[in-house]
Amino acid sequence: MALIELDHIVKTYDLGAEKVHALRDIHFGIERGEFVAIVGQSGSGKSTLMNIVGCLDVPTSGAYRLSGRDVGTLPDDDLADVRNQQIGFVFQSFQLLPRASALENVELPLIYRGIPARIARALVTEPSLLLADEPTGNLDSATGEEIVRLFLELHRAGNTIVLVTHEPKLAARCPRAVRLVDGLVVADGAGERVAFENTLDLERVAAAARAAAASAALTGAG
Ligand SMILES: Nc1ncnc2c1ncn2[C@@H]1O[C@H](COP(=O)(O)OP(=O)(O)OP(=O)(O)O)[C@@H](O)[C@H]1O
Ligand SMILES: [Mg+2]
Repeated sequence: MALIELDHIVKTYDLGAEKVHALRDIHFGIERGEFVAIVGQSGSGKSTLMNIVGCLDVPTSGAYRLSGRDVGTLPDDDLADVRNQQIGFVFQSFQLLPRASALENVELPLIYRGIPARIARALVTEPSLLLADEPTGNLDSATGEEIVRLFLELHRAGNTIVLVTHEPKLAARCPRAVRLVDGLVVADGAGERVAFENTLDLERVAAAARAAAASAALTGAG
């Protein structure tokens, strides 16, 4: 069983007059121990997807199963427990502490965020799920390189890592990358392939998929 199972996930923000289709039909899995980059242009749905994977938000439709458990149907308190005990978050404001080890670099920010030290330690020392949304956001490339090495080390230690990044060079070093265009997966494969793909072609793929989804909805086949 995959650690993460995204089963036809849709996320729509209802802004009254307007609906924002942040995720249209996301359907893939991530095995325990994988290291996956999520790439795509601004607004493509990366953070929305990460919020669902991290149990910070629930889908509008579709199911998200973590270790086989449908977390979308859990009450808020249970969702918070899953979040705090099984998932380590590395946020955009992530700062590398030069004299700390790779493990401490992930553990300490968790503790600062109020995760009890015992759980923070377990999250980084026992294989678990680590999520990072643009951890290299505001960093120079030398520091970005340090962060890549840190994640590769955490991956080798058995952690499952999902990393959002704008940087093709970083995604290319991940064993697997998934590209989103407009709330749809348009590529899923080796990081070095997906990172440098021709995104213009992918925009056309996404447009065709949207049109197919819309016509399926009209004919009631969807
Ligand atoms: N809380 C919200 N309410 C309404 N719309 C939202 C909300 N959060 C995200 N969106 C919209 O959903 C779409 C996807 O946004 P998301 O933040 O997931 O993109 P992203 O790929 O993370 O972009 P970036 O690279 O800029 O971080 C965008 O159109 C965004 O404006
Ligand atoms: Mg984002």
